[in-house]
Amino acid sequence: MRSIFKVVIYVIFPLILSCFYRYVTYVQSIDPFASFDRAPFNITDISRLIHSNEAKTQVVLITGASSGLGKSSVKFLAQGFAQGLNDESTSELNIIMACRNMKKCENVRKEILSEVTPFAQDNMHRFMNTLKLLPMKLDLEKSTSIKMFVEELETSLETMGDTKVNVLMNNAGVMGISHQIVEETNTEIQMHVNHLGHFRLTSYLIKKQLFHSKHARVVNVSSLAAILPQFLQLEDINFEHGYLAKIKEYLPTLASIIYYGASKRANLYFTHSLHEKYSIQGIESVAAHPGYSRTSIMFTGWSWAPQFIKEVMAQNTIASMHSDDGALMQLRAALDLDTVKSGDYIVPMWFTAGRAVNVGKVFGKDSMYIHHFVKSLDWEWKRAEDLWSWSKIKIVQ
Ligand SMILES: NC(=O)c1ccc[n+]([C@@H]2O[C@H](COP(=O)([O-])OP(=O)(O)OC[C@H]3O[C@@H](n4cnc5c(N)ncnc54)[C@H](OP(=O)(O)O)[C@@H]3O)[C@@H](O)[C@H]2O)c1
Repeated sequence: MRSIFKVVIYVIFPLILSCFYRYVTYVQSIDPFASFDRAPFNITDISRLIHSNEAKTQVVLITGASSGLGKSSVKFLAQGFAQGLNDESTSELNIIMACRNMKKCENVRKEILSEVTPFAQDNMHRFMNTLKLLPMKLDLEKSTSIKMFVEELETSLETMGDTKVNVLMNNAGVMGISHQIVEETNTEIQMHVNHLGHFRLTSYLIKKQLFHSKHARVVNVSSLAAILPQFLQLEDINFEHGYLAKIKEYLPTLASIIYYGASKRANLYFTHSLHEKYSIQGIESVAAHPGYSRTSIMFTGWSWAPQFIKEVMAQNTIASMHSDDGALMQLRAALDLDTVKSGDYIVPMWFTAGRAVNVGKVFGKDSMYIHHFVKSLDWEWKRAEDLWSWSKIKIVQ
């Protein structure tokens, strides 16, 4: 017992401390916002960045805008826009709230408008004419819904003065829900919605040339759950063989968490591949991880858990964040064009909570983030390419 204690004190603890020290010094060396001398990325930055964008009419499209991080993102964008308005402002902001439940979406829209309108008190007329929150129906589980959404979006963009999408925030997601194979793609539901749904949406937007031709950004919301690459098995996506099949049979709860992790890993590979293939054409791609944010996913997810565990998960304030703070990762990923580049990854400094910091390329040579310690970069890049080809086949089925 004493020798175990000694190993922990003299070996493991210093090792962890030194890794942590290296991580913090690395992040501080590449990212101004990671410095403790500077205030964290916040609403003032959001306001400044929206109003300094070159595009006069900006279009930000957010999936899953009816709840949690999506809702907080809409709110902060609207608030930042309202706060920055003055007599010289010329910008217009259109936020497309893509939701599967339109009633919920409309209620959220009204709630946000009543909350942010006071921030524009001196410029009310301008605010009313230049900020638009547009709820639109989108169910990422259904290919027909995605197709219809894109067609309607095309028409809406034309009526907005033939404008294009500046930011696509691929935020919607499900977590830890009961096992289900979706017939359309013959894929487990979390991979089907979280990855394939967004892959299909993004591909349609590219195909229809609905992204802004000079500069656009796609933000993919991933998770710490993406940590293990081994769980994303393209050859066995539904866990039908080997140890994953055994986990599915005997530990379905664990299997559902692994499926979630695999879908979030796919979000990271998608970010990397989009960056590799499209950044040259002006479509940038950035990943964000919102830490542990207290949102309704803690209730809708964890299908296996009793109610009290869900309540603990949703209310626990240790190492977690309010969804408004969690949303700052994806907002920085979307808006910060100066210090966040295509292929980068924005995460909370302390993994589950903290300021929004840039840890560099999702899969880059210098990256220090814990998502990269398991496999070699060559292996990860190959996997990203394989996922791209697999997804393309899946969405034409
Ligand atoms: N909260 C966290 O700690 C955490 C951590 C890591 C990553 N994330 C990721 O953050 C993203 C947002 O999650 P959240 O925490 O904000 O959860 P949330 O409050 O449950 O929001 C999820 C959103 O996704 C929408 N959605 C679910 N399935 C959809 C579908 N088939 N089609 C269209 N929209 C759909 C939901 O719509 P309804 O309102 O109709 O249900 C809701 O608006 C997810 O991708 C999640 O994986 C969250």
